[in-house]
Amino acid sequence: MKITFYGHASLGIQIKDINILVDPFITGNENASSIDIETLKADYILVTHAHQDHILDVEAIAKRTGAIIVSNFEIITYYQNKGLEGHPMNHGGSWDFEFGNLKYVNAIHTSSFPDGSYGGQPGGFIIEGERKTIYIAGDTALTMDMKLIPMQTKLDLAILPIGDNFTMGINDAIIASDFIECDKILGYHYDTFGYIEIDHEEAKRKFFDKEKDLMLLEIGESMEL
Ligand code: NI
Ligand code: MN
Repeated sequence: MKITFYGHASLGIQIKDINILVDPFITGNENASSIDIETLKADYILVTHAHQDHILDVEAIAKRTGAIIVSNFEIITYYQNKGLEGHPMNHGGSWDFEFGNLKYVNAIHTSSFPDGSYGGQPGGFIIEGERKTIYIAGDTALTMDMKLIPMQTKLDLAILPIGDNFTMGINDAIIASDFIECDKILGYHYDTFGYIEIDHEEAKRKFFDKEKDLMLLEIGESMEL
């Protein structure tokens, strides 16, 4: 499994020869100007919730690639009404896709579309593929529901928001890491806007002090799992 950070909460995940994009918000992120969405491959686009900073480039990329959008029922209905292909899910449900198993899990946040229309309830994803399992938390507060995850799943990596203000900050993300029983964390949802700027070295040190590993990738950088 190869994971590429495209800035903010945008990720590319490659499992076997299948390309998954998560929450593409690239053209609206001046820090991600090195990424050209015309060149991004996508067989699937996973959407955690309907906020602008997670869906901005979904439509353009889905139209170009024919990717199947996977999200909650309301978000998929919105895109199906635009003629795009989607697979609707809801919390607690899982499905075997060609890349592996995907589960849509709880997040504590909101989920309106930029025009104010209803975007269902926000979520996160657990992806199991090529014998690796990762948790993409989406925008969320620290929540006791995270304790449900290790009851069924041994995570190899968790991707957690760490920017504070709109989501968990560093201190809550460290507790989340305990809840999900995963000490290998990739941070996301930080630095994009003034509200969520963080001190990288301090963040890494706080995780290190708890014998945990916080990774922060450069935009466009990849890691192998
Ligand atoms: Ni959000
Ligand atoms: Mn967000």
